[in-house]
Amino acid sequence: MRTIAFVSQKGGCGKTTLATCLAVAAKEAGEHVFILDLDCQKSAVRWGSKRHDPHLLVEAVPSARLPAALTALSKRNMSLVIVDTPHLDSPRTLAAIKAADLCIVPARPATFDIWAAEVTGRKLKLMGKEFVFLLNQCPPLREASRVQKGLAALEVVGSLLRPHIAARVGFLEAARTGKGVTEVDPKGTAAQEMRDLWMDLSRRLRPIQTCG
Ligand SMILES: Nc1ncnc2c1ncn2[C@@H]1O[C@H](COP(=O)(O)OP(=O)(O)OP(=O)(O)O)[C@@H](O)[C@H]1O
Ligand SMILES: [Mg+2]
Repeated sequence: MRTIAFVSQKGGCGKTTLATCLAVAAKEAGEHVFILDLDCQKSAVRWGSKRHDPHLLVEAVPSARLPAALTALSKRNMSLVIVDTPHLDSPRTLAAIKAADLCIVPARPATFDIWAAEVTGRKLKLMGKEFVFLLNQCPPLREASRVQKGLAALEVVGSLLRPHIAARVGFLEAARTGKGVTEVDPKGTAAQEMRDLWMDLSRRLRPIQTCG
């Protein structure tokens, strides 16, 4: 079982959106996925309650119970646990970082967001944690230089998952209906990007040795 945590000190960068959509894409690829929601906002839990999917459950868990919850999930033969978190400096997020095999730091390609992601990445590095950045809500092609600048700044600190995720209406629809973008419009570009993202992530997870 591998555990990934979406973390960022910046709110609204897409942690919950990406955690839920990636969970669906991973499930479609054959993973046994469980989402743990450590955020008091409980957006992922609410998404899960709209979904009613016995094969993709979402549960809120207090940080003190996270290690026990992960042990229990590995005994239930889960292959992937995705942890959604609040902002970086909360004890809940620190618990998620400690438990994760890999942390994903989403960032919008805008200056303040990139600065915040750099800080998050540096903190994870100091903690000795494996992490990757993920550009989210990227603008249309004509603004490619903005994405390029964000990318270059983040690559100084760590590596980036591919592809970068564009801003698309399908993500809003997915949140509203308790779906993943791969279910909202399976043949659409957002769906393909999410499947490709899972491919890149699963390649990176493969060498990570975990118990359970
Ligand atoms: N790729 C995308 N395209 C369009 N909208 C997006 C995308 N990613 C996220 N959003 C929207 O941006 C907003 C913030 O996303 P989300 O709630 O997932 O961020 P978050 O990091 O979990 O926020 P918080 O820190 O408050 O938990 C939401 O309205 C979401 O629907
Ligand atoms: Mg959230």
